[in-house]
Order: sequence, then C-alpha cells, then structure tokens
Amino acid sequence: MLRVCVCVSGGGTNLQAIIDAVAEHKITNTELAFVISNNESAKALERAEKAGIKTACFNPKSYESRDLFEEAFMEAVEKEQIDLIVLAGFMIMIPAAFIQKYRNRIINIHPSLIPSFCGPGFYGLRVHEKALEKGVKVTGATVHFVDEIYDNGPIIMQKSVVVHDDDTPQTLQLRVMQEAEWNILPKAIDLIANNKVSIVNGKVILEE
Ligand code: GRF
Repeated sequence: MLRVCVCVSGGGTNLQAIIDAVAEHKITNTELAFVISNNESAKALERAEKAGIKTACFNPKSYESRDLFEEAFMEAVEKEQIDLIVLAGFMIMIPAAFIQKYRNRIINIHPSLIPSFCGPGFYGLRVHEKALEKGVKVTGATVHFVDEIYDNGPIIMQKSVVVHDDDTPQTLQLRVMQEAEWNILPKAIDLIANNKVSIVNGKVILEE
C-alpha cells in the first residue's frame, strides 16, 4: 500500500481529484496518509479534513529560521512513513536534502507542457498569461519527478489542451485543470502505486 503525502497551498482541486480517484478506485493500492500545507487558510486543508485525512500546517513564517521550518516539515513526513510525496500547487521550494532522501519519490503537477512556460516565477495564472501572450495553440499539464532544479525532473505524464482564441488566463487555467491536471495527476499516482513507472537513462517508462 503506497502511503501518500500531498502538499498543498491553495484551493486543493488537484487534491480533490486525487481524493475522488481513490474513492472511485481509479487509484488503487494507495493510502492518502497526510496532507500538509504552508497556508493555514488553504481550502485544500478543508477538503482533506472532510475526507478524514490527517493534516498539518507548516508555515515558514512561524519558524525562527528556514532550517527550523525544513526540519519540522521533513520530520513530520518521515514520522508518517510516507512512500510518495505529491506537490499539488505547493508554493514552497522543497529542501535539497529532502529531494535527496526522497529521490524519485516526489512528484509535481505543473500547468504547462514542460519545458514550455516553467521554471522560477512560472506558477498559477502567470503560466497561462505567458502561454496566451506567446500565442501557443496548444498547452496542457505535466506531472514530473522533482529534482533540485525547478520543474526539471523526469517527465511522467503530459496531456495537451487546445487554446481557444477567446481564452483568458482564467478560462485557460480552468480548462487545463479540468481536462489535464485532474486527469494525469491521479493516473500518475495509480501507476506509481502499481509499480508501473520506471526510469531508464533519466527517462520515464510507463507500463500502461
Ligand atoms: C494548479 O494549477 C497546479 O497546476 C499548480 O497550482 C495549481 C494548484 O491548484 N501547480 P489547486 O490548489 O490544486 O486547486
């Protein structure tokens, strides 16, 4: 049984998609063991509590130093015997020591087709603003393993979404979530939970 910790900072719609997929057995062999946020008022925490999932909040601002925050965060995850950490709109940079310890056991959902529109500063609506500014005809979402470089780890799954001429950043963001993010993130977790994901020469191989 894969014990999963989901890290959130905002609305938690990706967390909700994971919760629903587990309930509908679209994700198997998985236990949603822990939800962590850096933001006490994140709606994602309410979603977790409603689903009966243990939650915790680690706000860097409540710690005297970044090291103390990172220590508390890492200790809490280790105590829960977590196998996979899922970053679902988590706005905190994961400590390098943590990435090291959980090499290829941390995944992230990014709202573009990496390597487009990603890296430092590319998050939330800004990703879609840049996609519209560039005039791309297709965008989408990416699930990837997390490594020490922002939005750079091995790509697990991607799903494309057509850009409409009358799209605003808001309409595009919602369609990318609905058609791509809420689809590929649960699917990626299910594949990992059922040992169908391997990495060969830095590239992900999936057994569909
Ligand atoms: C999503 O668009 C995700 O791609 C990005 O942050 C947003 C989180 O939204 N990383 P939610 O909290 O899952 O609703």
